[in-house]
Amino acid sequence: MEEVIMTNKTWMITGTSSGFGKNLAEFVAQDSDSNLIATARKMDDLSYLDQYNHGQIFKVLVDVTNSDQIKNAVKTAQKRFGTIDVLVNNAGLGYFGTIEESNDADIRQLFEVNVFGLANVTKSILPTMRAQNSGLIINISSVLGITSIPTFGWYSATKFAVEGYSNALRQEVNSLGIKVMVVEPSGARTKWNAGKTAPVKLDDYSDFADMINNAAAGETSAPGDPHMIAKIIFDTVKAGKKIPNHLPLGEFATSGMKNELSGILSEIEQLYATSIKADTSAE
Ligand SMILES: NC(=O)c1ccc[n+]([C@@H]2O[C@H](COP(=O)([O-])OP(=O)(O)OC[C@H]3O[C@@H](n4cnc5c(N)ncnc54)[C@H](OP(=O)(O)O)[C@@H]3O)[C@@H](O)[C@H]2O)c1
Repeated sequence: MEEVIMTNKTWMITGTSSGFGKNLAEFVAQDSDSNLIATARKMDDLSYLDQYNHGQIFKVLVDVTNSDQIKNAVKTAQKRFGTIDVLVNNAGLGYFGTIEESNDADIRQLFEVNVFGLANVTKSILPTMRAQNSGLIINISSVLGITSIPTFGWYSATKFAVEGYSNALRQEVNSLGIKVMVVEPSGARTKWNAGKTAPVKLDDYSDFADMINNAAAGETSAPGDPHMIAKIIFDTVKAGKKIPNHLPLGEFATSGMKNELSGILSEIEQLYATSIKADTSAE
């Protein structure tokens, strides 16, 4: 039987081949108090971790749409480290297109990865966290999980799903010692921007053509630094303070979420007299 290494925290992160996941994996890998379960779709993409390996890093193949791979990863990681304390559901796809012109198969694949993949991994870890009576689940959502903009509608729909799912899960597992934090970054310089696109073909949507064509430019021009984003997430966990329910990251994340939520609040207040009539009889 493999030796169980007991340390402070074992992190499992999905999608550590690039972007936020890779940067976060590097912080965890360099922390002697932490074990790292780094997952990716190709083992070769994790060779950057070899420089840090001192027995506390376990690299494993996980495509989040593959339930067998997820189960195998959780089982072997648990055997090796004993506990899984922090799950970071980071793996995700981008997609750019108007609602009407987006491709059905691409939309389903987007939900398969961003929503059902995240839920599959979470479901596999929950029995471990419930048995431990502790754990932290970090779901990487987006500012577009709270607000939305043209041509990001379907991507946004997946992140709204992540927000709703996380909100309910938080309330279901809170008394079991398990916390759920949702991270809402705004645009950051990762290869996420190389996501699939549905170019505008209908004249009625021609105003949005440039937005879609320029989507890939975010890889170099977006304000968010993936290394800093990973550092903030890592530091938030390591600080040992109360974990926030939401962690907006970036100026647009903050202003976008504030504008959306205050706009909704203002409408709710204006419509209050009408709204509450729904609870009375129409007779
Ligand atoms: N960058 C932004 O502007 C931004 C803003 C807000 C939120 N986000 C979110 O942040 C998360 C990380 O994205 P990123 O910006 O760091 O982009 P990224 O560099 O493209 O990283 C995405 C990661 O997800 C992995 N992935 C994709 N499909 C997968 C699957 N089926 N199974 C397992 N892994 C899969 C990728 O692996 P491969 O290398 O194998 O494709 C990659 O490791 C995503 O959830 C994204 O929606 C990004």
